[in-house]
Amino acid sequence: MTTNIQNQWSSQAGFILAAIGSAVGLGNIWKFPYLTGEYGGGAFVIIYLICVVLMGLPIMMAEVLLGKRGAGSPVASMRNLAKEAGQSRLWALLGWLGVIAGFLVLSYYSVIAGWTLDYVWNSASGTFATNNTPSAIKSIFQNLIADPTYLLILHSIFMLATMIILARGVQGGLERAVKFMIPALFVVLIMLLAYAISTPKFMDGVHFMFDINFNKFFYPDGENFSGKGILVAMGQAFFSLSLGMGAIMVYGAYLPKDTSIAKTIAIVAFADTLVAILAGLIIFPIVFSNGLEPDAGVGLVFETLPIAFGQMPFGNIFGSLFFLLLTLAALSSAISLIEPAIAWLVETGKCARVSATIVIGIATWLLGFVTIFSFNEWSEFKLFSMTMFELIDYVTSNIMLPLGGIFMAIFVAWLMKSEDVTSELKVSAQNCGYQIWNFLLRYIIPLAVTLVLLNAIGIF
Ligand code: TRP
Repeated sequence: MTTNIQNQWSSQAGFILAAIGSAVGLGNIWKFPYLTGEYGGGAFVIIYLICVVLMGLPIMMAEVLLGKRGAGSPVASMRNLAKEAGQSRLWALLGWLGVIAGFLVLSYYSVIAGWTLDYVWNSASGTFATNNTPSAIKSIFQNLIADPTYLLILHSIFMLATMIILARGVQGGLERAVKFMIPALFVVLIMLLAYAISTPKFMDGVHFMFDINFNKFFYPDGENFSGKGILVAMGQAFFSLSLGMGAIMVYGAYLPKDTSIAKTIAIVAFADTLVAILAGLIIFPIVFSNGLEPDAGVGLVFETLPIAFGQMPFGNIFGSLFFLLLTLAALSSAISLIEPAIAWLVETGKCARVSATIVIGIATWLLGFVTIFSFNEWSEFKLFSMTMFELIDYVTSNIMLPLGGIFMAIFVAWLMKSEDVTSELKVSAQNCGYQIWNFLLRYIIPLAVTLVLLNAIGIF
């Protein structure tokens, strides 16, 4: 098998840090709370958690395994592995699906990361302390997204930072940055949690997140059944764990050969889930204590947390620190979204790493305009009653990532030789954990994901 990866993590810990860096990002702190708010709270949370355990963990393991054994960009890895397993070269298309999904996601991810960047100086300059009413804070956010020029500047800064890191190669610096950033983010989240506990309606927030009530989840308009909540919860599990598009595969390709996969996966998924749950436990008490609505949508985080920062002692400092850490967490996720595309371009041998980064970076930056305008100039333009931003997000998270996941599951569990799989995992075929994993990949995941997707397109 050809191995064309020159890069490698310094150790297993290096991989864990990078994978956490990829997983923890806007998905946990921006997207998870607002989706939970839109889909009625506890019911969404429980379905999300079930998806993380029954789909996320097994697929993450399969994806790392594919990367580690395939040893290339997702396109090359799938081609190598298909050859080894005597399967069609068309499996390289799975790598392609991932390259495209990553590119699409990054185009809007960078715009949202621009918002967090703006909030760094908004906090530092005391804007939130002097305008500390829920309605003033809401209008700060509404004014931000109404201004395409400013959004473009922020998006450009974020994309430039992403490209600079990528051009230099993702290993060394990333490991070191994540090692400091994730614990720091965690400390600020715990402080915010302490604030949330001190708000009058803390318990309302807790009930909202953990009381399981399927009414709002299955009957969003109060009358007609809709399974869309399940699709969105599943898509969010893929999104938050960075699964289904080759990000984790390409990181797996940089793993030293002798690492054990199962343990690393569990740590990454645990950290990711913890940050998401914490974010919810912070945001919903603030929502209820200030008479806000949980279903505010994409602005939820930006319209609630500043209230907390405006009120707490040293809120300017903690607020800007928090949004800075969030921007950095988004940066370490952004890198992993586009690394598959760059690894692929470099591998073709036509392009050096720096030029590959420039080409792909510019393309992503340009596509970001679509998202920027979705919030202002083009906000009335809708397809399937979604703005272009919503459509890109919907198609990538809820369709492309789960499809990628199904195919990875099928490839590992049905097509790879089981000796190859067990030797890669260093387990015997009788190992109970291995058998459960294999069963989930073979039957449960393809079936469950297919049913959810068919339901989404209205087939039953
Ligand atoms: N998981 C990241 C977040 O929650 C986003 C992300 C990074 C991602 N890499 C990915 C999403 C790959 C899907 C696929 O913010």
